[in-house]
Amino acid sequence: MIARAMVMAGDSFFVQLVLKSEPETVALGAQIAELLRPGDLVGLAGNLGAGKTTLARALVRHLLPGEEVPSPTFTLVQIYDVRQFKIWHTDLYRVKARSELRELGFEEALEDGVLLVEWPDRMGEDLPEDRLDVIMEVDDGAEDRRVKLIGRGSWASRVKFLAGAP
Ligand SMILES: Nc1ncnc2c1ncn2[C@@H]1O[C@H](COP(=O)(O)OP(=O)(O)OP(=O)(O)O)[C@@H](O)[C@H]1O
Ligand SMILES: [Mg+2]
Repeated sequence: MIARAMVMAGDSFFVQLVLKSEPETVALGAQIAELLRPGDLVGLAGNLGAGKTTLARALVRHLLPGEEVPSPTFTLVQIYDVRQFKIWHTDLYRVKARSELRELGFEEALEDGVLLVEWPDRMGEDLPEDRLDVIMEVDDGAEDRRVKLIGRGSWASRVKFLAGAP
């Protein structure tokens, strides 16, 4: 695992990682889980098969060991109750209109829940500025993942804890 961290313009903080194998992705998911607070949004970006669901699953399972955590590609949202808050895991790949988003109830989710969003760009202007962006890149057939973590707003200070992850 190779990590590099730097401060960006404004109040965001940027960490770049290389995850050499799936267990390293799982470890990063667990570390992000430890930093979560009610009202958080974590965006999971990257191409098909980049590892967004794998990371989200690891995050949920860190808080709910043994939970199944299916991909929300077809259900759009899966909700997990981890006691301190509910986690809404969503995949917006197929969402075309912002009105569809409103129906999913994300405003309510962000009041006291945590939103894990695959394809967060689909939220457009509804995407909160205060968030953690996880951007995963993979070359065809490779096992390692290049990951950019951008902590914005309240996540700027928290993302520093991930600089040494996993
Ligand atoms: N280092 C790694 N991190 C994450 N996944 C990995 C890694 N190495 C191999 N994989 C494999 O890559 C695949 C990632 O699939 P996953 O469903 O997590 O991607 P995704 O980004 O959610 O895709 P989609 O856009 O289709 O939802 C899995 O089959 C996983 O086992
Ligand atoms: Mg997925």
